Amino acid sequence: MAEEQTERDDGAVAQAEESLSVTDNRTGETYELEIHDGTVTAMDFRQMKVNEDDFGLMTYDPAYTNTAHCRSDITYIDGDAGILEHRGYTIEQLCEDSNYLEVAYLLIHGELPSKEQYENWAFDVTHHTFVHENIKKFMEGFRYDAHPMGMLLATVGALSTFYPESKAITDDRERYIAAVRMIAKMPTLAAFAYRQSLGLPYVYPDNDLDYPSNFLSMLFKMTEQQYEPDPRLSRALDVLFILHADHEQNCSTAAVRAVGSSQVDPYSAVAAGVAALYGPLHGGANEAALQMLDRIGSVENIPDFLEGVKSKEERLVGFGHRVYKNYDPRARLIKQSVDEVFEVTGVNPKLKIAQELEKRALDDEYFTSRKLYPNVDFYSGLIYEALNLPRAMFTVIFAIPRTSGWIAQWLEMVDDEEQRIARPRQIYTGERERDFVSIDDRPSADPLYPPSEPLSPEVSTPDV
Ligand code: CMC
Repeated sequence: MAEEQTERDDGAVAQAEESLSVTDNRTGETYELEIHDGTVTAMDFRQMKVNEDDFGLMTYDPAYTNTAHCRSDITYIDGDAGILEHRGYTIEQLCEDSNYLEVAYLLIHGELPSKEQYENWAFDVTHHTFVHENIKKFMEGFRYDAHPMGMLLATVGALSTFYPESKAITDDRERYIAAVRMIAKMPTLAAFAYRQSLGLPYVYPDNDLDYPSNFLSMLFKMTEQQYEPDPRLSRALDVLFILHADHEQNCSTAAVRAVGSSQVDPYSAVAAGVAALYGPLHGGANEAALQMLDRIGSVENIPDFLEGVKSKEERLVGFGHRVYKNYDPRARLIKQSVDEVFEVTGVNPKLKIAQELEKRALDDEYFTSRKLYPNVDFYSGLIYEALNLPRAMFTVIFAIPRTSGWIAQWLEMVDDEEQRIARPRQIYTGERERDFVSIDDRPSADPLYPPSEPLSPEVSTPDV
């Protein structure tokens, strides 16, 4: 580890506390790379060339398994120790002492609010929950069986057309109002999507209710004057919202940052996050976990199921994480909420299967050697089901609180002078410099194209 001084582009002298010596065996040349924060800069490899014309060495990292794409002050995860902190506060403390709206403020503004700041923030969010009436018409255009996550994705993107001024992404006021609007309107859009899927009239927001209770009201209110959810259920939902608020550079947050780096408006960037979250390996896992528990059916079938997982015919959904190589702290907290919710709603029989499945997997060398532990999605679906929420809504409920994390990350990215438009490199593996062959001269049965059978005539008729 050599102490060295290097001149930066701006002429200032930076002190590198640690460095890495790299010898390029193709040329015998040795390079000194600075190490900052346990990280080397990928661009430092580009100077390593075999000759003048060489492009320079690149790093290859599909799925970004070992690449930091930003510096961030928002969320800290120690995956080996199972620690999650937002702005330095542990997730355990936040779940115990805070509420989702306060955590959203913390993520976005960097500090916990004073009493007055909190009151203003809660007022602003509460008073921006309504959506333009045309959004309702837009929603009504979806097919009867449209997935609410698809509807959410489309309507969040559509918000950008209602607020074109949000394109001013460096204007503090526009940024604030966009943040408030998205946090406020996400539950409304989610609830409208749900009511649409049932053919029920939409329920407008109730400003007298707190954030989670208002969401439950928009989902479930029928003819009563005011919907009054059991406070224990509202609190459980609020805790779930806190647990899902941010999780540093996950797939959807990376999508928000990548899309936002083109300087598009924040609604469009967040729509990219919703799209990424929709996938079964990300936010869709809570829905898939319950389907898995249904398929297993009873405790007796667990050994066969686990054999299927080991032979890779099945996946133990709700287990495993790119970062956590220990129990996901969020799963531990959700497990505590499960008992509280079931006190109100009665026990979901699938809980027994989930608990036994967890116990057996944690006793099994296949899972322990791969450091596979329950993640946030293993138990959350059981709570959503106990709250009477349909499965298709589970991922939507993940998207509601994650909105504050996406916005916090987007704001940080926009202000980060090191960031430019996200544009990865590739290793090109295709053909080069071929001569174009006219269609009449091509072989009739090219084995490479078309890659599959042509669509049958009935499928080729206009799609409706
Ligand atoms: N069930 C069975 N085997 C697994 C699982 C699982 N859930 N997860 C990982 N493995 C195995 C995998 O087959 C591989 O084994 P081998 O070395 O024999 O090939 C090894 O563990 C490493 O897995 P990986 O796929 O390289 O890990 P990854 O970091 O790319 O994937 C993951 C992370 C979350 C996509 C994965 O663990 C998974 O598919 N889990 C199930 C889906 C799930 O629960 N997703 C929610 C994640 S938490 C919430 C969120 O972020 O959205």
